[in-house]
Amino acid sequence: MSKQDQYKRAAAEAAFEYVVEDEYLGVGTGSTVNHFIDVLAEKRPRLKGCVSSSEATTAQLKKAGFQVETLNFAGDLPVYVDGADEVNPRLELIKGGGGAMTREKIIASVSERFICMVDPSKQVDVLGAFPLPVEVIEMGRSAVARAMVRLGGSPELRQGFSSDNDNPVLDVYGLDLTDPKAMETRINAIPGVVTVGLFAARPADVLVLADNSGARTITR
Ligand code: 5RP
Repeated sequence: MSKQDQYKRAAAEAAFEYVVEDEYLGVGTGSTVNHFIDVLAEKRPRLKGCVSSSEATTAQLKKAGFQVETLNFAGDLPVYVDGADEVNPRLELIKGGGGAMTREKIIASVSERFICMVDPSKQVDVLGAFPLPVEVIEMGRSAVARAMVRLGGSPELRQGFSSDNDNPVLDVYGLDLTDPKAMETRINAIPGVVTVGLFAARPADVLVLADNSGARTITR
């Protein structure tokens, strides 16, 4: 297992401690979450079911024998576990490297505790080295891209990709994200934007950070 995978596995094991039995569990998307699903499969907690943030996660959860329910059925969740592309000291995030930020953001918004698993490569002082993913409605793709340029960014269409909601994603480079909440509000207001991958209005509650010395948690 690579060092990176060891960190992800260690973060996933530590995140497992936050799972609440006899409830629905929100499950995010990505390679770190894949380790978390492996841990779930090994430890087999007693769950009412899982709420999944992507088709890929749904497939992996089902393969491991977990029941996947719709969020409409499950309602509010005690815990949501996911990864991130970047995290700052206020536990504000960039997400959407895997293009699943729309469902991820909906699940995070109704979860009491958002547990975010990262390795040290994701930690930054100021968000924005990672290009900001923005899911858009196809007909508004160019209009949103021009709006991004007006905000100081350089948008690039993610090639050969469409989200689980069948929408394109723009990856926006070079935005000034020193005030992530303000930027999230501004981007949300652009017609044609489905979801921006800034999680500042609803940041993580607990960061599970794994490195050479094991996993530790940082709480907001
Ligand atoms: C998917 C996400 C992921 O959480 C993010 O891309 C991190 O993925 P990984 O664990 O593979 O580094 O936001 O939309």
